Amino acid sequence: MIEPSIEVSSKALLDASNRLGSKRLASFTRACVIPLIFDSMERAFGTDKEPVGEINSLLELLADYFNSAGRSGICEPGAASIPAEIGGSEFSEPVENVTGNHYGRLFSAFSTESFWQETVHLLKTRLDRNGIDITNIGQMKVLDAGCGGGRYTVAWRQLGAKAAVGVDISSIGLESARKRVTDNNLADIEFQIASVLELPFPDNSFEIVFSNGVLHHTVDWKAGISELVRVLKPGGLGWLYLIENPGGLFWGLIDVLRELMRMRIRNSRACR
Ligand SMILES: C[S@@+](CC[C@H](N)C(=O)[O-])C[C@H]1O[C@@H](n2cnc3c(N)ncnc32)[C@H](O)[C@@H]1O
Repeated sequence: MIEPSIEVSSKALLDASNRLGSKRLASFTRACVIPLIFDSMERAFGTDKEPVGEINSLLELLADYFNSAGRSGICEPGAASIPAEIGGSEFSEPVENVTGNHYGRLFSAFSTESFWQETVHLLKTRLDRNGIDITNIGQMKVLDAGCGGGRYTVAWRQLGAKAAVGVDISSIGLESARKRVTDNNLADIEFQIASVLELPFPDNSFEIVFSNGVLHHTVDWKAGISELVRVLKPGGLGWLYLIENPGGLFWGLIDVLRELMRMRIRNSRACR
């Protein structure tokens, strides 16, 4: 659910965007505001000030901008909303490939500090806050299921795990993970390409099975949970982090951005 205080301005913006229609210039006009919203979010959330007012003003301003663009006739005067038949499926390939490629590129771009220092600090904080004791970690082998660029696989080793294995469906993230590990001479850590829905390990293989932000990207999260439990030793530590309809200001705005992007993609297809 979207943050109630920006629901009205978000809807006004999306309605105005819809009224721009489906011509190439409308698509361009929409595309221009996407980085602006993203940048404004980053800045609004990066200060201690209450962000809602600033975000609201921006959305209202952009709705005015779309309305003016519509009235000026540069797009498609009086256009009805985008025809449903233009949309169709968002992805032309399996969702695993799209997710894998997207996150592979994202994680490859992580700075050295984010990868090596921030993540281990974050992991330690999360374990402490959940009261999880890892005194015997030196005897434990960890699986990082859906490891992306391997930041948590590495962090587990930095915390002292005996060994760590990262698996992911994307080779892009794994290549970057292997390179970072080799460049830093970190031993007892490996990366394999595999799906969390069909893990290439025997039952009871790991003392710790960790999966951070992965199963909600798969087509069958229940199968994923079965696999994670299967490879976890009885009495071991299982860590599962998922995101589902998180709501709030940030995710509400992400939904607005997604909707604008969808309109843009549909338009590009329509213009070919
Ligand atoms: C949000 S990222 C999280 C990456 C990593 N766990 C982290 O926290 O840095 C989601 C990851 O799940 C991976 N993924 C999606 N579906 C998968 C599947 N079926 N099997 C393995 N990995 C998958 C993606 O390739 C991506 O790297």
